[in-house]
Amino acid sequence: MTTAEDCEIIEIPKIKDPRGNIAVVEKDVIPFETKRVYYLYDVPSDASRGGHAHKNLQQFLIALSGSFDVILHDGENQKKITLNKPNKGLLIKSEIWRELENFSSGSVCLVLASDVYKEEDYIRNFNDFKLFKTR
Ligand code: TYD
Repeated sequence: MTTAEDCEIIEIPKIKDPRGNIAVVEKDVIPFETKRVYYLYDVPSDASRGGHAHKNLQQFLIALSGSFDVILHDGENQKKITLNKPNKGLLIKSEIWRELENFSSGSVCLVLASDVYKEEDYIRNFNDFKLFKTR
């Protein structure tokens, strides 16, 4: 069973340069092939995003700018991770409930996803999620 502990921070290789750095998420940095890229921006500081799990989808979240908290729950345990560096991303495996909150002003959350958008892959009710985990 996937647990919150299986979700890890992955350092993104960067090319340091006095003119500005480049961080590159190339094949092998994350354990899936990216099929979709989207980003959250203009998020009010009191807003909460997420609030769901995915049956199969894996995601890699990067705070391109600013910071926000990610709360991961595996049905039994939870952990909170703050993302605030553009060269460190959070791998969220499938079957993990997530909430995103505490967005700083101007923050941008980039998401690399292992599949295209499929509503049927979502579990949007926490009790359904807990049942799914103990199936
Ligand atoms: P959702 O994934 O619930 O947002 P978040 O987890 O960031 O809070 O998506 C919000 C809405 O946007 C929902 O109606 C589905 C739609 N949506 C798409 O149509 N395509 C996408 O790739 C994403 C991520 C969301």
